[in-house]
Amino acid sequence: MDPGELLDLLKRRTGFTQTHAAILKELGEVMAPIAPEVALAFYDYLGRDEELSSILHAVPGRVERLYGTFAAWYRELFSGTYDRAYAERRRRIGLVHARLGIGPRAMVPAMGLVQELSLEHLRSALRGLEVFSAVEAFEKILAIEVALVEESYLEALARGLLLGHRDVGEALKEGAKALLSP
Ligand code: HEM
Repeated sequence: MDPGELLDLLKRRTGFTQTHAAILKELGEVMAPIAPEVALAFYDYLGRDEELSSILHAVPGRVERLYGTFAAWYRELFSGTYDRAYAERRRRIGLVHARLGIGPRAMVPAMGLVQELSLEHLRSALRGLEVFSAVEAFEKILAIEVALVEESYLEALARGLLLGHRDVGEALKEGAKALLSP
């Protein structure tokens, strides 16, 4: 499915409206500054997992580069703009991970950590009823993020199988490689 159409569908199904987009943009004021801190905790968490740590350190300078790209991704959660270009960027992020064989079993718990750290900060930075609408908007955008990544995995897998790969892991990686190649 076209990334723009998929995003519209996900917005409908999660009940994500312009009000939620506006709340997230407002939250950017308290959330964007913690992006480097979340990135540090994130890579520390991945570094404690033997398999994921070896992927991170397979290329010199990779982790250092990822701090920046991850922090940019995190700030974008609170940009207030969730359009076709946003959906296309998320599809690409999913495909980059699929090409490396980093599947849902790594990605979904990692999203869970982002959720945990963010909710902790939201609760301490906001007061009273503000927290409820903030959490609602944040949960909806994270659900959309997870769905966009998962859909890109399915797309990669389908392409890999079509290319004749019989092993699921190979099909995922090779399909993603094919979809990412210009
Ligand atoms: C919440 C989940 C995650 C987010 C938001 C995220 C974010 C990103 C972003 C934005 C990129 C750059 C994509 C591009 O080049 O266009 C990236 C690449 C990458 N991520 Fe993740 N990531 C996540 C989970 C993981 C996990 C679980 C691993 C496991 C090791 C991982 C390892 C990598 C690696 C190795 C790259 C490629 C780096 C390179 O270009 O050499 N990521 N990630």
